[in-house]
Amino acid sequence: MSNAGTTADAAARMERMYRWQRHLYDLSRKYYLWGRDRLVDELDVRPDETLLEIGCGTARNLIAIARRYPGTKLFGLDASQSMLDVARAKVGAAGLDERIGLAFGLAGEGSERRLFDRPNGFDRIVFSYALSMIDDPEAAITSAHAALAPAGRLHVVDFGLMERLPTPARWALMRWLASFHVHPTDAPRATLARLVAETGAPLTRQELAGGYARLMHYGPTN
Ligand SMILES: C[S@@+](CC[C@H](N)C(=O)[O-])C[C@H]1O[C@@H](n2cnc3c(N)ncnc32)[C@H](O)[C@@H]1O
Repeated sequence: MSNAGTTADAAARMERMYRWQRHLYDLSRKYYLWGRDRLVDELDVRPDETLLEIGCGTARNLIAIARRYPGTKLFGLDASQSMLDVARAKVGAAGLDERIGLAFGLAGEGSERRLFDRPNGFDRIVFSYALSMIDDPEAAITSAHAALAPAGRLHVVDFGLMERLPTPARWALMRWLASFHVHPTDAPRATLARLVAETGAPLTRQELAGGYARLMHYGPTN
């Protein structure tokens, strides 16, 4: 299932969604957006590398990455100005203005390099619980892939398809997620598999908590 609508609708939808929720976002999401810290642990970013998070939200991950990997230069784009307002305040409070650049933008539009004036692209691009909210996850991943520097890597953590849950529990969970405009699909895995077939680069996949979440790393390892 995909979200319906145009990219302009997507920005308006995210703004409606997060205008008030941003105040509770970090506190509430830590209980159900599983695997984000594991993704940060597994990034293994070198000090000279650049990393972009698409759908960075409140910059929760970017701040964790900046602290974990000193010397890296980080960027975040998001479709919600309200989330970016929170992100800017948090990045400033953490004293990370020099290391984390933030911008309003939509996934899948091919604007990643231009938005941050990075003509050579990014060494790493992360999607953390964003693809399940993005109307066209295939376009988002394809655009991100085009924004990678040579030998760059894509990293994804998101809801899985929860196939091992009993049907009523799966149905209830999917319905609850849909009320937050979250629609887990197999499109991210299928798109990364297509990139593997085209480029020969490796893909690693881990199912977390019995398929509740999925962690994928695409591209050559250091
Ligand atoms: C569930 S939050 C995840 C935030 C953050 N990545 C994290 O792990 O805490 C999803 C974020 O994706 C953003 N988003 C949704 N659709 C988007 C799109 N089409 N382009 C860019 N960002 C989008 C939302 O505004 C929101 O901040």
